[in-house]
Amino acid sequence: MFQLNTASYREWRAAKLASYPDSAAELVTEIGGLTDLSTDQKGAILSSCRRANMAIYTCRDASVDRQVIRIFAAQFGLRRLDHHLCANEDGVSELAVASEGVRGAYVPYSSRSLSWHTDGYYNVVSRRLQAVLLHCAQDAAKGGRNAVLDPEIAYLHLRDTNPDYITAFEHPECMEIPANNGADGEIRPAVSGPVFWCDPTSGALRMRYSARKKNIRWRNDAATTAARECLSELLGDKDGPVLRFKLRPGQGLLSSNVLHNRTAFEDTSAAKRLLYRARFFDSITGGEEKL
Ligand SMILES: [Fe+2]
Repeated sequence: MFQLNTASYREWRAAKLASYPDSAAELVTEIGGLTDLSTDQKGAILSSCRRANMAIYTCRDASVDRQVIRIFAAQFGLRRLDHHLCANEDGVSELAVASEGVRGAYVPYSSRSLSWHTDGYYNVVSRRLQAVLLHCAQDAAKGGRNAVLDPEIAYLHLRDTNPDYITAFEHPECMEIPANNGADGEIRPAVSGPVFWCDPTSGALRMRYSARKKNIRWRNDAATTAARECLSELLGDKDGPVLRFKLRPGQGLLSSNVLHNRTAFEDTSAAKRLLYRARFFDSITGGEEKL
């Protein structure tokens, strides 16, 4: 993907490491409403996305409707939504505890913790996600914290440790997700693909990953196993580059589908966690211009 040891790669690496934030607070932009961003506010959000492939905003609106979420995203060139199994008809999901229905069968719609992953790692190639927006309408009384890591930082760490790890993670059969079979037959076919690849449209590094032990078939070779161990150590390093925060009502995370996890949480009758989530096939842009 990137040519090893070229001057341009070394420059890119040095700039990335120099600008990567020490805390999630460095990525926060205060905005007014989601639908009336000023040029400066939009510029600040895009600047955070350039630094870390993600931005956090704090706005005055906690309870928004799904249409507002879509209008906000469109200001960053995000229009093509992934209408997946648990999304509403307009493609925006409401992440809250669901005890019944199709959502009740999936961990994101429970109060349980979520292990490290990128969204849509099980999607077929033609439906790979480029961007995700999470907006918090209500946080949980206890727990529900997120940890995140820019895939470019994960890439650099793995490559610095051993370039063979990158070769292993770029293999087209590196990580396979078995078919999802429901009571009425196959919901999704088995999907095999790399962990890292270069998006042909945006030229950006992209990543699909899941730390789940079940329902993932990893390529069975020494380099892949060692690369997975190296990545898990990085993700578990308390003093490493992982950023941690808890989205509060009115806050949101706009990202190029970065690595993330979630701690378990507890709702109360007064505070039931609700996050809106929209996932896009478009890359984050400032309108016409690509990041
Ligand atoms: Fe996720």
